[in-house]
Amino acid sequence: MSTREWHDLMDAMEEVGPYYERVNWLITFGMVDRWRKKVAALAKSEDTVLEIGSGPGNFTKHLSSKSVFALEPSPELSRAAVKDVDPERVSFLRGVGEEIPLMAGSVDKVFCVFSFRDFFDKERSMGEMHRVLKEGGEAFVVDMAKPPPGPLAKMLEVHVRRMVPPLTRVAVPAAARERWARDPYAKLLETYEAFGSTRIYEDLMKRTGFSEVTTEYLELKGATMTRGKKPWKSTS
Ligand SMILES: C[S@@+](CC[C@H](N)C(=O)[O-])C[C@H]1O[C@@H](n2cnc3c(N)ncnc32)[C@H](O)[C@@H]1O
Repeated sequence: MSTREWHDLMDAMEEVGPYYERVNWLITFGMVDRWRKKVAALAKSEDTVLEIGSGPGNFTKHLSSKSVFALEPSPELSRAAVKDVDPERVSFLRGVGEEIPLMAGSVDKVFCVFSFRDFFDKERSMGEMHRVLKEGGEAFVVDMAKPPPGPLAKMLEVHVRRMVPPLTRVAVPAAARERWARDPYAKLLETYEAFGSTRIYEDLMKRTGFSEVTTEYLELKGATMTRGKKPWKSTS
């Protein structure tokens, strides 16, 4: 993704901010927060956790680990997150996944929840995730399901193309839509269309040096979670 495209995307994200969760809820038939809670439960209380692309904090608020870093490029989106989290445990960092402002080997788990497909340089951000993880640490990439060609892929494509646009119109008041010079959801859908199947995430993780890379569907198969481990260095 070019820098220009990424900045356009960030503008779109900030525009949909107030309606973000309402639309998510509608287009996932109420599943989005169940998925987030299930994934957040994988972080242990003693873990140091990094979430990349924390936005308005909809996933961050479910993390109960002793130390959580929420990395987000948009201060406007982060502002909305502050009220929902425990300031004793959660620190907000401004920045991008392509240049994580943390030391190498400093976190136990990294989560990208509905954010990885927005990163402008996915290869570089995957490398950064690997760098900041401790040996034995784990990375998780959760996104809308994008299965390989077949009936499920077709169904999801129809949902995204034909059902999501009218549903966003139901969720966003007409007055707000009139203020928009162009529909920001069209921009957000472009990122879904642009990313390949989740297989691409798996391959990228493996190429970056992650091991035990697997993908599983979350409930109702509307989202997937791809995970991989930073291997322990051999001491022999
Ligand atoms: C769709 S929101 C997801 C928010 C939240 N994680 C959730 O579960 O709803 C995607 C977030 O990724 C952020 N983002 C986009 N590009 C990024 C990048 N290069 N590095 C880090 N975060 C990025 C956006 O600003 C936005 O807040």
